[in-house]
Amino acid sequence: MRLNGKVALITGAARGIGYGFAKAFVAEGAKVVIADIDIARAESGARDIGPAARAVRLDVTKLDDIERVVKEVDQEFGGIDILVNNAAIFDMAPIQDITEASYDRVFDINLKGPLFMMKAVANAMIARGRGGKIINMASQAGRRGEALVTLYCASKAAIISATQSAALALVKHGINVNAIAPGVVDGEHWDVVDASFAKWEGLKPGEKKAAVAKAVPIGRFANPEDIAGLAIFLASAESNYILAQTYNVDGGNWMS
Ligand SMILES: NC(=O)c1ccc[n+]([C@@H]2O[C@H](COP(=O)([O-])OP(=O)(O)OC[C@H]3O[C@@H](n4cnc5c(N)ncnc54)[C@H](O)[C@@H]3O)[C@@H](O)[C@H]2O)c1
Repeated sequence: MRLNGKVALITGAARGIGYGFAKAFVAEGAKVVIADIDIARAESGARDIGPAARAVRLDVTKLDDIERVVKEVDQEFGGIDILVNNAAIFDMAPIQDITEASYDRVFDINLKGPLFMMKAVANAMIARGRGGKIINMASQAGRRGEALVTLYCASKAAIISATQSAALALVKHGINVNAIAPGVVDGEHWDVVDASFAKWEGLKPGEKKAAVAKAVPIGRFANPEDIAGLAIFLASAESNYILAQTYNVDGGNWMS
């Protein structure tokens, strides 16, 4: 029970990795707020987890939504101890084909959202004076460019940088900011990735996913549970001396 009595706010937790974190955090004794734009799915997920989970509607691109949700959760639960900036979207296009609309969407959700979530939650944590933990979801895509993944890679590189700056600003308030860079994690996100590769590389559905799984040194995709162990560690007191880092959980895909 490494998160006993802690309150965790996880964005984009209606499904996938974020939902896996919600279940894992509750198993460690935390209360979890599943904050997602897909409120129906967030609510059914919270019901399945039980009374320690609650769903709230949140669009991370809307600053008034962020302020409202952070205030509500802070007041209702008596503070926020853990923020996981997990919501993100994938996008695929080489530089010759990017559009302003996809740039705005990817950077609004993948960078602006996490930045203003950190701002709102850090201010709430500072006001309570008991520190906290912030975990940003980066990606192996943030470690190097990919010919077809211009915007998503850039947004994930940006979140690695934002993690470093926020960590240095917040350490004096007892708030640790770190990031996790998963490799390839099975779930609906990868349905989108596989379909995008099929479109741009003329592959059959499932072909890219099978090739990618084979190329991971460990020989398979991750499940959300494979990522949750590090998230629990970074959310717990065991990581109190760690800040500004981005850790790979990727079956050996990237070495840094
Ligand atoms: N799946 C992977 O292979 C992989 C690899 C590396 C990094 N990641 C990162 O891990 C995180 C979670 O990935 P996942 O695979 O679970 O993704 P996912 O697509 O399955 O889930 C994303 C969630 O975010 C929510 N969301 C989208 N836009 C939102 C918005 N504006 N406001 C609030 N919520 C919003 C969606 O409704 C969804 O529930 C993301 O940051 C992703 O970039 C995933």
